[in-house]
Amino acid sequence: MSDAAAIRAEGEAVPDPIVGFFDRGARAYDLQLVLERSALRRAASLAGPLDGDVVDLAAGTGALSSALVRRAPRPRSLTLVDGSPRMLERARARLRTLAPGARFIVADVRAVPLPDGCADVVTMGYLLHLLDPASRTGALAEAHRLLRPGGRLVVVVHGSPRGRAGAAYRAAWRLVRRVTPRVVVGHGPIADAARLVGAGGFDVRVSRRLPGVYWSEVVAADRRPGPARAGADLL
Ligand SMILES: C[S@@+](CC[C@H](N)C(=O)[O-])C[C@H]1O[C@@H](n2cnc3c(N)ncnc32)[C@H](O)[C@@H]1O
Repeated sequence: MSDAAAIRAEGEAVPDPIVGFFDRGARAYDLQLVLERSALRRAASLAGPLDGDVVDLAAGTGALSSALVRRAPRPRSLTLVDGSPRMLERARARLRTLAPGARFIVADVRAVPLPDGCADVVTMGYLLHLLDPASRTGALAEAHRLLRPGGRLVVVVHGSPRGRAGAAYRAAWRLVRRVTPRVVVGHGPIADAARLVGAGGFDVRVSRRLPGVYWSEVVAADRRPGPARAGADLL
């Protein structure tokens, strides 16, 4: 069985319109990485020591995972989770020599089939801005559940400038999405990802906004003890 077939055998694409969008567009996805690469590298550098167990949620074609494994020390284990088998096929190709022991799981980020406390680091690259508020809470709760006490979360989102410039930027993207629904999906740029992560049960250590046509925000945070809070859906 080929690698690609082995991944498909683990499951069909998660039945979700956003996952379906990425599954259909997997072949072209990497063309847009030019807009995201510097934020993904920044995320990898803010993740702290990576010598433990790392879970990359919504791993897509593996761009963030590959930035993580290029850093020293390398993870003891790396697990990529995504709802799209076709995105994961491409991730497997990207990581074949960089991280030959990596695992690939087709699953919904809101219900990940991994045990509690299995990770030292959880990452989420360019996911939360795609999701509706309730799903953001669900994804952050899963990250919280997967992390051991003292574990770290690193999030990258399509972000925005602060203040009035930010409101204008987000309105412009809403318009772009309305007129090009086949090209742009999801909820749209997030006003304050650090606040969102904090409301999900994490203590934010650092957050950085990276300007551009496509703004990004990178947030590194520590898992707060106790249960995840269900406040992220209010933001
Ligand atoms: C914009 S891509 C980001 C990929 C990668 N993290 C990166 O930064 O290059 C978003 C990914 O999230 C996945 N995704 C979206 N919603 C999901 C869900 N509910 N469960 C699992 N994966 C999901 C999509 O399939 C897609 O691969």
